[in-house]
Amino acid sequence: MSEPELANITDLDDLERYINECTACPLAETRTKVVFGVGSPAADLMFIGEAPGFHEDQSGEPFVGAAGRLLDELLDTVLGLSRSDIYIANVLKCRPPGNRDPLPEEIEHCLPFLRKQDELIAPKIVCTLGKHATSVVLRKNISISRIHGKLVRLGGRRLFPTYHPAAGLYNGSTKQLLIEDFHKLKHLLTVDDEPEPPVEESQEQMDLFGR
Ligand code: URA
Repeated sequence: MSEPELANITDLDDLERYINECTACPLAETRTKVVFGVGSPAADLMFIGEAPGFHEDQSGEPFVGAAGRLLDELLDTVLGLSRSDIYIANVLKCRPPGNRDPLPEEIEHCLPFLRKQDELIAPKIVCTLGKHATSVVLRKNISISRIHGKLVRLGGRRLFPTYHPAAGLYNGSTKQLLIEDFHKLKHLLTVDDEPEPPVEESQEQMDLFGR
């Protein structure tokens, strides 16, 4: 699987077929299904999680376990949206065994796929879920409690980090912060891009994923 092939892909279905064949890292040997992503190819809002867990590996769909149910609840009750209105993807497309953290080399192999999804969907806002996904996109080790709920501008792109929904399952105050962040997200989705001043700005890269 070479970069030029990936560069030539112009369609999400072709990208999914391409990734389904991926054997670039050892996770290909332990996965049940590749978890490509779900939602609208024309979504204004794309969520990025960390990696598939047990249920996602079995079903091939991101966020189908308890954390996913909380995500669906927040989408519905705060944003008035369903999965078909937005897009959901993960940094890794295959489950790390035992739900361990993704290894740096796994992220390196998989990140071009997420970058391509972002390029093809071109959402107005990317919302990273949790410390790990946010750190990967920002390419630095961030504190999610410090950065969540703040708009980060990267070149012309808007990134909005929040907590991982799994963190809201067992901690009521984190769930409350997630609800507040989703209300801010709703506002960001309804205002025009330009007048909104950035709360945080990264000088370190020109665009999302360093493009
Ligand atoms: N956690 C994630 O980060 N992604 C999923 O798809 C499920 C749980």
